[in-house]
Amino acid sequence: MHKIIPLTIGSLKLANNIIAAPLAGITDSPYRRLLKHFGAGLVFTEMVSANGLIRDGKGSVVLLQSDPAESPLGIQLFGDDPVVLAEATRRSAAYGALIDINMGCPVKKVIRSGAGSALLKNPRLIGRIIAAVRAATDKPLTIKIRSGWDVQHLNFLEVARIAQDEGVDAITLHPRTRTQGFCGRADWQQLAELKGAVNVPVIGSGDIMTAADAVEMLHVSKCDAVMIGRGGLGRPWLIREILSRLGGDDPTPVTMAERCDIALRHLDWQRDLFGEHKAVLDLRKHLSWYSRGISGAATFRAQLSSINDFDPLRRTVTTFFDAALATENLNL
Ligand SMILES: Cc1cc2nc3c(=O)[nH]c(=O)nc-3n(C[C@H](O)[C@H](O)[C@H](O)COP(=O)(O)O)c2cc1C
Repeated sequence: MHKIIPLTIGSLKLANNIIAAPLAGITDSPYRRLLKHFGAGLVFTEMVSANGLIRDGKGSVVLLQSDPAESPLGIQLFGDDPVVLAEATRRSAAYGALIDINMGCPVKKVIRSGAGSALLKNPRLIGRIIAAVRAATDKPLTIKIRSGWDVQHLNFLEVARIAQDEGVDAITLHPRTRTQGFCGRADWQQLAELKGAVNVPVIGSGDIMTAADAVEMLHVSKCDAVMIGRGGLGRPWLIREILSRLGGDDPTPVTMAERCDIALRHLDWQRDLFGEHKAVLDLRKHLSWYSRGISGAATFRAQLSSINDFDPLRRTVTTFFDAALATENLNL
């Protein structure tokens, strides 16, 4: 039997153990606010370049900015140099409640720089990075790893023990290797192995697409928290569904009116923060995800790519959902 469990990571007390994953190009401030609105215990920034922050790159600092409604916010940094990561931690810690170091990103550009999952090839460097970052902040410190570089080198247990010895407060595991990318299934059994090997909280990431998946991951792995990534795209209410399920209630189904309201709210928040032009570009992918499973979605998606101005886009969204609502009412 599961229930909603408050989670403690170092000195940080979270209301629950449902965490929204860092997603580059996606988990910006407006989307994080939506995830928080649906009850996420913790949300994360996109991964932020430690080198970029040190160079005072404006683009990197923008990624750290948030609305108070998102609190508590985890800041995720990536890099490969202990000194640079420690300095980036000092500069960014005030923006959030927790610092996380990315040790799982499989993207070639990141790997070539020695960061992300390339670090898994060098556990001693991981130890040096954590020691340096640990000394740079009193805030809770976590790492996010994959299970290894490839199946011949599954070293997540070794990495996790090193990290624990150097003072991390929790470990997130996405149990796929770097070479696997996003193929195959995440191996939740590896989460159980990790849970048995360390004393700090273990956060499970990978393939939670439904509330039942979240319950299942908690059950099979006994991990302390679950992280929601792709499952929340176009469905941020998945977090609410999981919390209802864990609380023993029947999940409150999302209504078409609520879907419309969320899509429009997302669009408006994006405009308020970034301006109309960027809102139109940023929201294309989200709107296409919001439309999944709704009749007329293919036509709607085709329209999205050809609309370049905010007001016509907003009208198109309203028209699409009005039609969906009308169809729904007809079928009642
Ligand atoms: C588009 C995309 C962007 C991602 N960006 C990040 C990132 O910035 N930092 C990170 O640690 N993981 C990142 N991930 C990995 C996710 O956080 C998560 O671990 C992975 O997607 C597995 O979980 P899921 O099946 O729930 O999506 C990204 C994944 C995707 C699909």
